[in-house]
Parts: sequence; C-alpha cells; structure tokens
Amino acid sequence: MFKYLKLSSPGKIILCGEHSVVYGKKALACSINLRTNLKAEYSNSSLFSLKLNDINKSIELNQTQFESIQNESIENDFDKIIEYLNFKKSDDKHFDSIKFLILALDQLTWEKLSGLDVQIESEIPLASGLGSSASFSVCLATLFLLLTSSINPKLSQNDLVIINKYAFYLEKLFHGKPSGIDNSVSTYGNFVLFEKGSVVDKFESSLDLNVLITNSGVPKQTLEQVKKVRNLYERNKEILDHLMNSIDTLVGKFVVLLKQESSIEKSILLNDLITLNQGLLYSLQVSNREINSIVNLANEFGFHTKITGAGGGGCCITLLNGEKTSQRVTQLISKLKDNNFMPFQTKLGTGGVCIEKFEF
Ligand code: MEV
Repeated sequence: MFKYLKLSSPGKIILCGEHSVVYGKKALACSINLRTNLKAEYSNSSLFSLKLNDINKSIELNQTQFESIQNESIENDFDKIIEYLNFKKSDDKHFDSIKFLILALDQLTWEKLSGLDVQIESEIPLASGLGSSASFSVCLATLFLLLTSSINPKLSQNDLVIINKYAFYLEKLFHGKPSGIDNSVSTYGNFVLFEKGSVVDKFESSLDLNVLITNSGVPKQTLEQVKKVRNLYERNKEILDHLMNSIDTLVGKFVVLLKQESSIEKSILLNDLITLNQGLLYSLQVSNREINSIVNLANEFGFHTKITGAGGGGCCITLLNGEKTSQRVTQLISKLKDNNFMPFQTKLGTGGVCIEKFEF
C-alpha cells in the first residue's frame, strides 16, 4: 500500500449536443485542463480524515464509526446502497459518498483507513457546469479502489472502467439521475461521444483546441432548462424533431473534423458548427440576455461562441482558433470582464484520471 499518493482528474465541457442528447441524440463532451487534485498520506493519527479545502469542510471517522457503517446490513448492490443512503439522507452528500464506498467495497478494512489524511482541492469552479462534482467523484472512487487493491496504480483500461462505474454511482448520490457523461469524461479524458446513456466513442484529437470559457454570472439551471425544452417539444414536436436531428448531424460532423489533421478550412468549419449549434440552442429558447451578449461581444472580435451545458445561465465557449495571446483575444477578454463576465482560457481534450505519485 502507498505511504503518499497524489492523483487528479479533469473537469469537462459539453462541446455540442446538449439538450438533443436528452432526446436520444449524440452529444460530444471533452475534458478541460482544470483538475481536481487529491493527496493522501498516512500519519500516526488513529482517525481517517478527508478535507475538502475548497468548501472548507472536513470529515473524520474513528474506528467505531467505521465499524458501525460496515455493520449496516446492505447487500453489495449499488442501487440498493444508493436507495438506502437517500432514505437515511444525512444532508451531507460528501459523507454519504464515503459511506457508499465503505458499504460497496467489502474488502475495505479499518487498517487501510486508520491514520489516512486525504485532502481534495479543485481548480474547477464549483457548480458552474464544468464537471467539478464528477471530477470529485472520480478522484474519490480512485482512492478507495486503490485502497482495496481493486485497481492497479498503473490504471489499465479495465481499471478505468471500474473507476467510471463507481464514480457514476457517487454521481447518482449527488444528482439523482446523472447521464454519466461527466464522470466518463473525467475518467477517460480527451473527447467522449455519448448516446442513449452510453459512451459510444472515445478519441484524442491532434488539434490544439484552445477555447475561452466565459461564465455568464447567472447560475446554471439544468432542471429548469431541460423542462422548458420538453414543454416546447411537446407543443411543436414535428418542428423540434428536425431541430434535434440537425444538432445530431452537427455533432457527427464535429467528430469527423476533430479526428482529421489540422487545416485552415477545418477551423472555418468548426466555427460554422459552433455558430449553427448556438442558433439551434437559441431556437430551443435556452439562451438569455447574458449569453446573447457574450455571443455578440465575441462576434465583434471575429470569434464564434455557443452555450456549453443547459443554458439559461452557466457558461459559454468561444473557439480561439489556435490564437492564445493575440491582441484580439486580449481585447475580447478585457471587454468581457468590463461587462462583468468571467472568462478564462483553457485547452480542450486533456488526459483523464491520473496517478501522479504513488510512494511506498
Ligand atoms: C446539461 O449539462 C446537458 C443537458 O443536455 C442535460 C443532460 O444531458 O442531462 C441540457
């Protein structure tokens, strides 16, 4: 077993296909180079402690508490454990997530937890639709699976499948009915194509995809926006079916472009797809004043922007076409800030969960 462990996993954005994915179409998501970092180290203490530095919260367990959780007679069935924990709702999802792992991993013994000090810190802005909770889930699942030697620190493809499965169940604890896309991106990294609840393709792109992510400052409203689109769909099914199909075609084209070598023509086509997707999302009525304003400001500087996620608030992405520090990028950033938006640059398609240090 390790003495000191450091691991991390990335946040994500949805590149295209939000909302239409709810209607059985494809969505393309990818990792961003902001990560959640987990450090774990053994000390002489007789407690297990987990510190969540971003929210200034810590959880401690002693042996008696550990054993009382372990003695709870729940069969090792993920759905049953989730149901049971929700029934016993502690209002503390982080504690529930530890309980879930203790109940789910029957090889876990107190010796593995005693004296273990875990610290988690994230570079991903919380509750912004950038996958901070999934990244937390992936880091925590990886730690516990390592503790029970259920996975190898070298992280084979099969190990990633196991991590993703446990992280998905933690996500269920946090969100009730997650699609599974966030934890898949955080586990596998790079680009993930998702359809009807499953990962249907995972790939890397040779493109240097730098984007600006701009937080509109309006909190994301996933449930409300999904419901709003559903109502619009029920009233205008024959029109919206075409619209969802158009987004699906657009996602397919995006995938083809990302898999090809870089070219000037490709950058024009990617920009087309971003603007077409934003137009379709606008038609779905999930854009708002702030988002329209970000789209228009970026357009003034020649950049193409769309919502990422559910819309109604949350974040937008702007393709920077390989420019990182050009004058127009700098000018756009300062213009967005002048308008009280919060832009930051990031690279798309970085690596998934990664064990950075595993010292004996
Ligand atoms: C939200 O990030 C993406 C939506 O498509 C909802 C979902 O897929 O569950 C709007």
